[in-house]
Amino acid sequence: MRRLTPRTLRARLIAGLLVLLALACAAVGVATSLAMEHFLLERVDQQLVSAGGRFPASLEHQEESRGRGDTRGQARGTLGVRLLNGTVTDAAVVSSRYGAEPRLTAEDQAVLRDVPADGVPRTVDLGVLDDYRVLALPGADGDVLITGLPLHEAEETLHRLQLFEAMLFAAALAVTGVAGAVWVRLALRPLDRVTATARRVAELPLASGEVTLAERVPDTDPRTETGQVGAALNRMLGHVADALGRRHAVEQRLRAFAADASHELRTPLAAIRGHAELALRVTEPMPGPVRHALDRIDAESVRMGELVEDLLLLARLDAGRPLARGEVDLTRLAIEATGDARAAGPDHRWRLELPQEPVTVTGDAPRLHQVVANLLANARLHTPAGTTVTVAVRPLPDGAELTVADDGPGIPAELREEIFERFSRADKDRSRASGGTGLGLAIVRAVVSAHGGTAGVDGEPGRTAFWIRLPAEPPAVEAETAPPS
Ligand SMILES: Nc1ncnc2c1ncn2[C@@H]1O[C@H](COP(=O)(O)OP(=O)(O)OP(=O)(O)O)[C@@H](O)[C@H]1O
Ligand SMILES: [Mg+2]
Repeated sequence: MRRLTPRTLRARLIAGLLVLLALACAAVGVATSLAMEHFLLERVDQQLVSAGGRFPASLEHQEESRGRGDTRGQARGTLGVRLLNGTVTDAAVVSSRYGAEPRLTAEDQAVLRDVPADGVPRTVDLGVLDDYRVLALPGADGDVLITGLPLHEAEETLHRLQLFEAMLFAAALAVTGVAGAVWVRLALRPLDRVTATARRVAELPLASGEVTLAERVPDTDPRTETGQVGAALNRMLGHVADALGRRHAVEQRLRAFAADASHELRTPLAAIRGHAELALRVTEPMPGPVRHALDRIDAESVRMGELVEDLLLLARLDAGRPLARGEVDLTRLAIEATGDARAAGPDHRWRLELPQEPVTVTGDAPRLHQVVANLLANARLHTPAGTTVTVAVRPLPDGAELTVADDGPGIPAELREEIFERFSRADKDRSRASGGTGLGLAIVRAVVSAHGGTAGVDGEPGRTAFWIRLPAEPPAVEAETAPPS
């Protein structure tokens, strides 16, 4: 039953219209039928009353009418019956010229016997003869004279009227259904335009970057309901566009601030380092604590310099600065980076899995080198000595994949996405000095995203595998598209 109820507004409107029209047609049909029936019966009754008991009375004098009564002036089909003491003595029906004796069954006779002789017309069903309107009058010599007129003509007229009405109503319903469907479709067309606009807006990438929200609903006539919906939607789109514009401006300012701040920090940092190095080069004797302090200043300014470079790189990637584009041999890059890592971490076992053919992609070689170096540094710094680290490169149908897998302690599954966030580290307890800053993987993801690729980590106890997938050709650089951090 639920499936039969129409769902769309269009279907519901048309169905409602048709149901109402069908009800109206049914009411009109019943009313006209009843009125027509009443009118026809009244006409038959008038005829009956004016015919009176002449025809059945004439049946008594059989010699005069040759046994068929006096049919003169009687309508065709007129029934004459004479009852004497409850028995049918004579019965005739006016046919073309003469009265013919009808074959009245016992039941018909019983029906006729029950008609009260009060001069009021009644409808009776006389088996073979069908429905008759009969009128019974008391005769002159104690008999009862019944005159009947057939109803089949009136019934046929009534049936014809009903048939005609049924056809007329069916045609009206069909025409209304078709015309109503067209009309409702036309009337609801503005609603389709509202839906189309909303759908187009929903498909826009609103999450980040600069968004031009130019879509508007064309129908905004406040006198119509759809116009009101359209105007409300347009107002909402205006607010959303405004908010998105503001958000973009704030983002831009923040990025510019981060880039400027990192950039501005470089110069004083370089000065601090330079001065520390200069002071350490002094040959004159220097108290131990002073030399130690100068050593610390030197080491920490190096660390801070790296941090500032990382921040500057992220700020630049955020701002969508175009990357250099050149052919990068990932196999060579893996060999070089692993060589560096082996030198930095001789206590780890370093393995390379490379295909026969070199695997190349188009991209920014120094940035990609930094990505691999970050992954290798993590595999060295966040795993105990003796861990085996495997660097593998393999070609993909439309690019290449590089994985850095280790059999170290691994990363809890719930932290695997979080570690790609800026300044996020899996082991929060470790001191900053030993644990790094937490920007390494953020840079990995930002650089790979800027190349149109993806970066992630798979893991199970005893195995951690960081992977990056790069397309053979990075997409054309669009200024102002911020890669996800
Ligand atoms: N191979 C790995 N095994 C276990 N944990 C890892 C591994 N690689 C990364 N991690 C975890 O992920 C965290 C984030 O790594 P990420 O490189 O972003 O920062 P970091 O190494 O702590 O600092 P940075 O790289 O900026 O010096 C690390 O702090 C570490 O807890
Ligand atoms: Mg790191």
